[in-house]
Amino acid sequence: MNTQHIYNIIVAAGSGSRFGASLPKQYCLLNSRPVLMHTIENMRKALPDSHIVLVLNKDFIDYWAELCEEYSFVSPSIVEGGDTRWQSVKNAIDKIPADAQVITVHDGARPIVNADMVARLIDALDSAPGAIPVVSVTDSLRQINESGSTPVDRSLYKAVQTPQAFHADKLVEAYSLPFDATFTDDASVLAALGYDVTLVEGDTNNIKITNPLDIEIAQLYLRQQ
Ligand code: C5P
Repeated sequence: MNTQHIYNIIVAAGSGSRFGASLPKQYCLLNSRPVLMHTIENMRKALPDSHIVLVLNKDFIDYWAELCEEYSFVSPSIVEGGDTRWQSVKNAIDKIPADAQVITVHDGARPIVNADMVARLIDALDSAPGAIPVVSVTDSLRQINESGSTPVDRSLYKAVQTPQAFHADKLVEAYSLPFDATFTDDASVLAALGYDVTLVEGDTNNIKITNPLDIEIAQLYLRQQ
């Protein structure tokens, strides 16, 4: 596929409240550069000539411009985020031209996105309206219920990562539905329309920076790239 018809939404408008730092996690330094710059650069490497739409919280747009100046970094086009991840993605979708064939959605807080995995996702779109990267769950799992909790068979579950890739027309249609609290990722929005996604092998290094220690772990993974 011609990558010029691929639009990559990178959502980075969250406040990162679990991270506990004064700055949202996407702006914290990883190998002396903001996490978000690694994310954008790795998406650019994975899909050269494709387009990136960066979603930022409106209170951080000026700060991002200062960072780009400081690090001599060329920013993708910017869209203002919303109160929920769903709203942030929707704001970006509204700016994507009608000739888009594929839209990917990636969390700005996942800087270790790898080109082979992205290629697997795009290839999988030949036979499915959406493709998402998944990895096996290594922890034991329990289901919480009224009487406490019960163990469940972890081989029946997968952990879902981003980027998630979709036929553009299907994702645009799915995002025209009203918001529902069960929308935890873009595949769940697509599922509300009755479209199913195909599962592609993810990458255990593709962590979402969530806790301060994740920065140290990401540093190790970046060295392996
Ligand atoms: O909070 P969580 O880590 O699950 O967020 C996943 C991604 O969605 C992050 O990259 C975050 O910046 C983004 N997000 C957003 N707009 C929101 C909430 C989250 O762009 N309102």
